[in-house]
Amino acid sequence: MRITNTFFVLGAAYVLGQQQEDSSSIIYQLSSDPEFAFLLEEYMSLSNGGGANTGEVLRLASQITAGDFESWYSEFKYMADSLHKKADAIDKKRFPVSARDAYFRSASYYRGADFFLHSNQSDPRIFSLWDSALADFDTATSLLPSPPFRKNLTGDGFDIPIMFFPAATVGHGNHNASRPQERIPTVIVGSGYDGSQEALYHSIGRAITERGWNYVSYEGPGQPTVRRQQKIGFIPNWWDVVTPIVDYLESRPDVDAQKIALIGESFGGTLAPMAASREHRISAVLAIDGLMSLFKALTSQLPDALNNLFASGNSEVFDETMLGIMNNATVPTQFRWVIAQGLWSFNTTSPFEWFTRLSKIALDEEIVANITCPTFVGDGEHDTLAGSGQPQELAAALGSLATYNQFKQDLGAGEHCQIGTEAQLAQVSLDWLGDVWDGMKLPNNITGGAY
Ligand SMILES: *[C@@H]1O[C@H](CO)[C@@H](O)[C@H](O)[C@H]1NC(C)=O
Ligand SMILES: *[C@@H]1O[C@H](CO)[C@@H](O)[C@H](O)[C@H]1NC(C)=O
Ligand SMILES: *[C@@H]1O[C@H](CO)[C@@H](O)[C@H](O)[C@H]1NC(C)=O
Ligand SMILES: *[C@@H]1O[C@H](CO)[C@@H](O)[C@H](O)[C@H]1NC(C)=O
Ligand SMILES: *[C@@H]1O[C@H](CO)[C@@H](O)[C@H](O)[C@H]1NC(C)=O
Ligand SMILES: *[C@@H]1O[C@H](CO)[C@@H](O)[C@H](O)[C@H]1NC(C)=O
Ligand SMILES: *[C@@H]1O[C@H](CO)[C@@H](O)[C@H](O)[C@H]1NC(C)=O
Repeated sequence: MRITNTFFVLGAAYVLGQQQEDSSSIIYQLSSDPEFAFLLEEYMSLSNGGGANTGEVLRLASQITAGDFESWYSEFKYMADSLHKKADAIDKKRFPVSARDAYFRSASYYRGADFFLHSNQSDPRIFSLWDSALADFDTATSLLPSPPFRKNLTGDGFDIPIMFFPAATVGHGNHNASRPQERIPTVIVGSGYDGSQEALYHSIGRAITERGWNYVSYEGPGQPTVRRQQKIGFIPNWWDVVTPIVDYLESRPDVDAQKIALIGESFGGTLAPMAASREHRISAVLAIDGLMSLFKALTSQLPDALNNLFASGNSEVFDETMLGIMNNATVPTQFRWVIAQGLWSFNTTSPFEWFTRLSKIALDEEIVANITCPTFVGDGEHDTLAGSGQPQELAAALGSLATYNQFKQDLGAGEHCQIGTEAQLAQVSLDWLGDVWDGMKLPNNITGGAY
């Protein structure tokens, strides 16, 4: 057994190592560990929406030991605690903007500290860091000119936490606290395999409210808060998560029920179209980026031996092999993390069960044929995971309902979910959405076009 395991591990590590060398950050390599570099880029990109500061993340990058999960944790925790302490000392009545901005950043760094801890699901820090992150985020949002509110909606066997941000929460637009209530367009946004509602606020939520639209974020089973508070992993029937949100929005006097859109980021590029295949009150879907099957994207990067082992149905050996990889410090971080996060987010300790359930959360031509609204299909030119032809496949399955756009590497926008170029993402995708709602003719492919 040991020999076979080692063979698998070596093969997998080799394949992923090769893949990672090609996938180093397109902006600047912030760690010699490619997965750390990518995540540091992701945390630095929160600066574009007030969720981090570039110098703080560059400082973290200079202190973190590549590939060392405890070093990652303690540097992020140090930054989070330090900013939290500074924020606590601010007189919130006199200096609300200073306090708000500090709490937003400490919240992000608490979330960052948690990122590589999931291989041990009983690690109490997974919960305590999240509590700190939520508390600081909520203090920050309470200091916005028009604060959002949180609410739990009742789903079929689970609760769906949402945050509702009224349009123009941020002071740039036509913010006017005494503005009379009117029905306005509303964008629902959900994340993917690991992202949180709180990060979405910085990456796209503020951009939505600044455009004069309501912004609603949510988390479903498998996603950070639901997984922690309700111990439920991902489910395939994602429309059961989105339908209660649409029901709720329809009941609100400040929502234009004809203009509700749904955005899914990362694994959300599968989940959002999946929901729209049964929830037809959505007027537009945006897959950032288009993803037919995370399972396929993942297994296409594994050695045949490992895929064959899964296909053989020998769950015991498969579990032992995958857990061996997850706990082997010499295996590339990306591979170790993707297993740990998979087990955590599917609420299981069996890799075989994770793989089996993940394989069932996938789009196919029949499911896509049930989608009836215009759909934006994003693609990152440099996205080595979700890229690899899947966005084009989704666009082709949608036919005339699709508008495909490839975000370009030469403008820094080629990364998974356009990390680091949030303004380009918002400009292209939300201008397209404005065109949908204004009844404009929608092109099928806007790559390099007017948007
Ligand atoms: C997981 O974390 C718990 C709680 O800190 C600890 O008791 C346990 O030893 C850890 N397990 C492993 C395998 O490290
Ligand atoms: C939502 O439910 C969770 C428990 O699952 C609870 O901790 C939280 O306070 C609730 N949020 C609201 C806004 O009621
Ligand atoms: C805010 O809206 C109210 C009600 O429409 C209006 O009377 C007031 O002039 C507006 N204030 C600003 C600063 O636009
Ligand atoms: C999640 O896992 C825990 C621990 O194994 C278990 O008690 C709980 O029932 C699981 N949740 C679901 C929805 O299966
Ligand atoms: C860990 O993986 C390396 C290859 O990356 C392999 O040589 C080693 O035998 C593995 N260790 C264990 C305990 O499986
Ligand atoms: C398409 O939608 C119908 C109606 O909701 C449903 O019965 C059918 O199973 C869906 N097809 C697929 C492949 O999901
Ligand atoms: C979209 O247009 C670009 C630029 O013209 C072209 O290179 C690409 O193949 C097209 N992609 C799809 C999916 O139509």
